[in-house]
Amino acid sequence: MEKTKQLYEGKAKKVYATENPDYVIVSYKDDATAFNGLKKGTIIGKGVINNKMSNLMMAMLEKKGIPTHLVEQIDDRNTVVKKVEIVPLEVIIRNVAAGSFSKRYGVAEGTKFSAPTIEFSYKNDDLGDPLINDYHALALNLATAEEIDTIKKMAFAVNAAMKAFFKELNIDLIDFKLEFGRFKGQIVLADEISPDTCRFWEAGTWDTTKHVSLDKDRFRRDLGGVEDAYAEIFKRITESK
Ligand code: TMP
Repeated sequence: MEKTKQLYEGKAKKVYATENPDYVIVSYKDDATAFNGLKKGTIIGKGVINNKMSNLMMAMLEKKGIPTHLVEQIDDRNTVVKKVEIVPLEVIIRNVAAGSFSKRYGVAEGTKFSAPTIEFSYKNDDLGDPLINDYHALALNLATAEEIDTIKKMAFAVNAAMKAFFKELNIDLIDFKLEFGRFKGQIVLADEISPDTCRFWEAGTWDTTKHVSLDKDRFRRDLGGVEDAYAEIFKRITESK
C-alpha cells in the first residue's frame, strides 16, 4: 500500500491517505514533546521502536479479543491502520500512583492502588487536555453512554493483558494512556502503545523512592539514558517472543 497525500502531522506521527478510503498509513517520527508541546526534543530511533512495539502490543491484544486499528506494518516506521474517527478522550489507566495523579492528589509516586483506576482527559491541545468525567464527556457529545461503557471495559481488559505481559519481562506497568476510534460502527483501540504513552518501571523498584523508569519520563524529567531505555524495553519484548 502506498501513501497518497499527507492528512495530518502530529507531535510524534504523520498520517497519510492511501488509495483505500478505509485505510491510512501512520509514520512514526523521532520527535518528542512533553508538557503539551512546551518541551521539545529528539529521541533517536524512537519512531522505529514505537512503530514496531505498538504493532506487537496491538497484535497481542487482538489475540486476546480486543479489536484494534492495526492492519499491517509496512516497514520500520510505517504502518497501515484502519481510518478511524478518534474519540477525543485520552483514557488513562493507573495501577500505581505517579505523574499527574501524585501531584494532583498529593500521593507519593510508587503508592500502589488496591484496584486499577481510570480517568479521562478531553483531547484538546488549546485547553491543555483537561481532566473530565463521564458526564462531562456526554454533555460535550464526545461519545455516547454505550461507547463510554465499551471504552472502559476495553481499557481495563488492555490493562490486565499488558500487566501480565510486562510482568514476564520483569517490568511493572505503572500507568498508560489509550485512545479509541470508531470504525464502521465499532469502537477499536487506536493511536499507539509505546514508552511515549506508558510508564514502565523496572520490576520491584516501584515501592522504593528510586524507581527505574524505562519510558518517556527519562525525557520529561531529564534523567538521561532516554534512547537506552527505549532500546531496553524493545529488546525485552522481542527477546520474549
Ligand atoms: P500523567 O501522570 O502525566 O497524567 O500521565 C499518565 C500516563 O499517560 C503516562 O503513562 C503518560 C501518558 N501520557 C500520554 O501518553 N500523553 C500525554 O499527553 C500525557 C499527559 C500522559
